[in-house]
Amino acid sequence: NKSKLGLPIGTTLDRFIKQKEDEFSSATGELSQLLRDIALAGKIINKEVNKSGLLDITGGFGEKNVQGEDQQKLDVVADIRFTRALKNGGMTCAVVSEEEQEIIHLNPNCRYVVAIDPLDGSSNIDVNVSIGTIFSIYKRISPVGGPVQDEDVLQKGTEQVAAGYILYGSSTMLVYTTGRGVHGFTLEPSLGEFVLSHNKMKSPKDGKIYSINEGNYFAFDEWVRAYVDDCKKKGMTARYIGSLVADFHRNMMKGGIYLYPNTEKAPNGKLRLLYECNALAFIAEQSGGVATNGKERILDIQPTTFHQRSPLYIGSSEMVEYATSFIKADT
Ligand code: AHG
Ligand code: MN
Ligand code: MN
Ligand code: MN
Repeated sequence: NKSKLGLPIGTTLDRFIKQKEDEFSSATGELSQLLRDIALAGKIINKEVNKSGLLDITGGFGEKNVQGEDQQKLDVVADIRFTRALKNGGMTCAVVSEEEQEIIHLNPNCRYVVAIDPLDGSSNIDVNVSIGTIFSIYKRISPVGGPVQDEDVLQKGTEQVAAGYILYGSSTMLVYTTGRGVHGFTLEPSLGEFVLSHNKMKSPKDGKIYSINEGNYFAFDEWVRAYVDDCKKKGMTARYIGSLVADFHRNMMKGGIYLYPNTEKAPNGKLRLLYECNALAFIAEQSGGVATNGKERILDIQPTTFHQRSPLYIGSSEMVEYATSFIKADT
């Protein structure tokens, strides 16, 4: 029951990160601390999520966020918890969050920038269905000590130094990469520790699952409709939770493709490049999968605004390549 690195399944996240630090002597320990800060905030949110039906924190918050979505109370709670953890952790100079229009400035003497979707899958909070948190970590470009600039936040996904997600599901998991494979940890609730349960996660090259909100069928481009029809003719399995993290995680484990296309009304789709697409694209690629907007690799897109959206086709490599081959047939 030992991983390839000699770390036994059951190793705690803290120990695992520490071990990695020793292996890669370039690390200063700051990134490790930052990952631990995120894990801690994740545990706090996990507690709130578990109890949400009992506390008065389900339902709408009564305000809209910058994307015009109705904020749920837990969206707001998670946003506050994560930004506070990042502030107190003392490794982060700035945060861009789904729930805040502008950059949140933290300690200018720090070198890391975090992009975060504090609570993913808002519509599933009140109905006891899996939800998540998504994060990306970058090194700032501007000099440490000075004010954080837009260019520090508007970096391509290829520049991520780490990314991951927390899935509040039937069990709670933290999955992350620093560009050397993908590692998954399951929260042991009685200990309150994330323990290594999935080392060096690999996405199957092919699979049978397709995940798309088919209610938008008639708003999709012709090639998307043709691809969905093809999935049906082949008797593939449709699975769509409506929480990106959960849909992505299942597909990575079992083999599958997730599609969130552009529509006429939403020419760039719905998902946000900086704190949804990039993190999952980094994880996908590190697990052997593929992520594209249909025209280019997600990680190669140069962002121009904090909350910009992108179509997303992500998952098992052969499935994403096959799906996007319909684009050429369409044009
Ligand atoms: P969020 O809850 O962070 O705003 O994200 C919602 C996203 C994502 O989680 C999900 O996959 C997608 O919206 C679902 O959208 P549809 O309801 O349009 O299918
Ligand atoms: Mn939202
Ligand atoms: Mn989201
Ligand atoms: Mn969200």
